[in-house]
Amino acid sequence: MLNRKFPLTRLRRLRSNSFIRDIVDENKITTDDLIQPIFVKDSDGIEEIDKMPNVFRYGLDVLIKEVCEICELGIKSIAIFPVIDSSKRDAAGSEAFNENNLACSAIKLIKEHYPDLIIISDVALDPYTNHGHDGVLINGYVDNDSTVSALVKQALCLANAGADIIAPSDMMDGRIKFIREALEESNFKNTIILSYAAKYSSSFYGPFREAVKSSSKLGNSSKSSYQMSSANSDEAIHEVAMDINEGADIVMVKPGMPYLDIISKVKEVFQIPTFAYQVSGEYSMLKHAIENGLLDNKVMLESILCFKRAGADAILTYAAKEISKELNK
Ligand code: PBG
Repeated sequence: MLNRKFPLTRLRRLRSNSFIRDIVDENKITTDDLIQPIFVKDSDGIEEIDKMPNVFRYGLDVLIKEVCEICELGIKSIAIFPVIDSSKRDAAGSEAFNENNLACSAIKLIKEHYPDLIIISDVALDPYTNHGHDGVLINGYVDNDSTVSALVKQALCLANAGADIIAPSDMMDGRIKFIREALEESNFKNTIILSYAAKYSSSFYGPFREAVKSSSKLGNSSKSSYQMSSANSDEAIHEVAMDINEGADIVMVKPGMPYLDIISKVKEVFQIPTFAYQVSGEYSMLKHAIENGLLDNKVMLESILCFKRAGADAILTYAAKEISKELNK
């Protein structure tokens, strides 16, 4: 192939000033690539989340102000995560399919004010169960098929409330198929399914579980009987293939930074829109290091750019707003 030799080739020529670097850059981050997750709570006001610096829970009374700021920065999509009051959680997670639950109310409210903003809504029972698992427990085991029936009901409620993208994050087998069929039958033909297809059983979700107040409910119990083992990569390909065949429009890999090899492989094998999630633990790690002067705040944008280089078409990140401010300067 190439037989490039010094000094005919000096690779530093194309790095010699910022204009030439900008011109030859292979990847760029714009606000189009960023998705802002938002935590919503059912009481009024704003509450900071202990383990996630600069991330808050918003009551419906202040939600629109926050969404307005996000839209004005040029961000085109948000992901809604409800923090459900303990009194509404039960073993079956039945609040998940109450048409007037917090997630549905938040979606309706946002759609009234910002109809074009793309709303992604998680489908999983963990915010709604009193044991913190993503599904229905039978003899201590998360039962696949009864969970899928519940997820179908939840997905229909969210689609009905106006969610543009339904995002099953539960890792049950077969759920994309049944959700897609139900959406078709109920005439939600353009509702997009973003499958958390390769979702690993990860300790990087710790701060999120505190944010939605499910960690104390989960205790020492793990999600490894449904989320994937960090040891595996072939299995990610099988998971993604299944979900695409069952009707997913977009697939996601999660967590992000320690799993860049999986993003890259999925994108290469399937050439389908592929998202990545910079999860709570990754965000908090970087943010704490920045706040304590260990790292420069440029690491945030750098880490997002690396997701893109690995093959992600869009990235869910708690830093979407702050990165957008930086990009808009
Ligand atoms: C719920 C869900 C989780 C995350 C997104 N949806 C937590 C989990 O699976 O326990 C994690 C997001 C993050 O850590 O930022 N199914």
